Amino acid sequence: MYVDILGNVKDNIYILGIESTSHTFGIGVVEYNVREKSLKIIANEYDRYVPMKGGIHPREAALHHTRTAPQVLRKALERAGIKIKNINAIAVALGPGLGPCLRVGASLARFLASYYKLKLIPVNHAVAHIEIGKYLFNFKDPLIIYVSGGNTLIAIQKNKKYRILGETLDIPLGNLFDTFTREIGLSPPYVIDGKHQIDICAEWGKEFIPLPYTVKGSDLSFSGLLTAALIQAKEYKNNKEKLGNICLSLRETAFNMLVEVAERSLVLTGKKEVLLVGGVASNKYLREKLIAMTRVHGAKYAGTPPEYAGDNGAMIALTGFLSYIYNIHIEPEKAFIRQRWRLDEVELPWLPN
Ligand code: FE2
Repeated sequence: MYVDILGNVKDNIYILGIESTSHTFGIGVVEYNVREKSLKIIANEYDRYVPMKGGIHPREAALHHTRTAPQVLRKALERAGIKIKNINAIAVALGPGLGPCLRVGASLARFLASYYKLKLIPVNHAVAHIEIGKYLFNFKDPLIIYVSGGNTLIAIQKNKKYRILGETLDIPLGNLFDTFTREIGLSPPYVIDGKHQIDICAEWGKEFIPLPYTVKGSDLSFSGLLTAALIQAKEYKNNKEKLGNICLSLRETAFNMLVEVAERSLVLTGKKEVLLVGGVASNKYLREKLIAMTRVHGAKYAGTPPEYAGDNGAMIALTGFLSYIYNIHIEPEKAFIRQRWRLDEVELPWLPN
């Protein structure tokens, strides 16, 4: 697909991508190899901010990014086996995300682009999560399920944009799990070997208990579920099995809600591919449910693997490459961050009509 657009380029193309929207500072590099006519991820380095207590503190996370940025950049270039002078353009996630964190990536991108006289490519973080999933599985026109700590939505591509068919009306699904486990004292709520603290806690449970299940059309609401689960958890905080029942029921209820709206969108659109992206894509219980659902409708399922499911620089570099071949770039002094930059606002020339 790239060959038709690139024409007769003579040299390899290297795009460096910077990710700093939330807890992760990441730098990735992609290479378009002219001889092989192929696009490869050749570096994906990152350092993650882990709060000592509570949730992400935006200013502390930004401080972490500032401190780790030089080292992550050095490691990424070493891994890619190239120097900055080999890079063709700098791509940066300008939103959506946390202001102080976004500013670290944007400042670094502005500096690198100005100093080395490189093109600066603005990337929407949500678009990048989708593009890396499509790239990894060679999906052309999937139903997209995007679930993370900052987003929960179902989308398709149409008329050069990603169009949202359904989304959370309040908190994202990843945030529901993080907040619940933190509030009941199981923190920090991070994923280890594909298991979130909610999964570890769910293993203590044996019984499903009814909790609020809120689906409104194709939209979802998780805040009532969170409140109800927290009220019950406070009552049983010294009873491991009862707490396990709540974790199990919370996870199952949230996933079932998501699978319901995904299934309805799949039937409505008749898509033949289902793609799960975002940080929660590494959850094996969600994966199992989606595999079972897509099988019923004869669609192909794929979920981004853990290395590329969470926030990472490679997905920014990859989306930067797509923008680069369509000549999308901005002046460094105009690289402003956009904390609430919605997925469906971005016009993407590589998407079909
Ligand atoms: Fe993300």
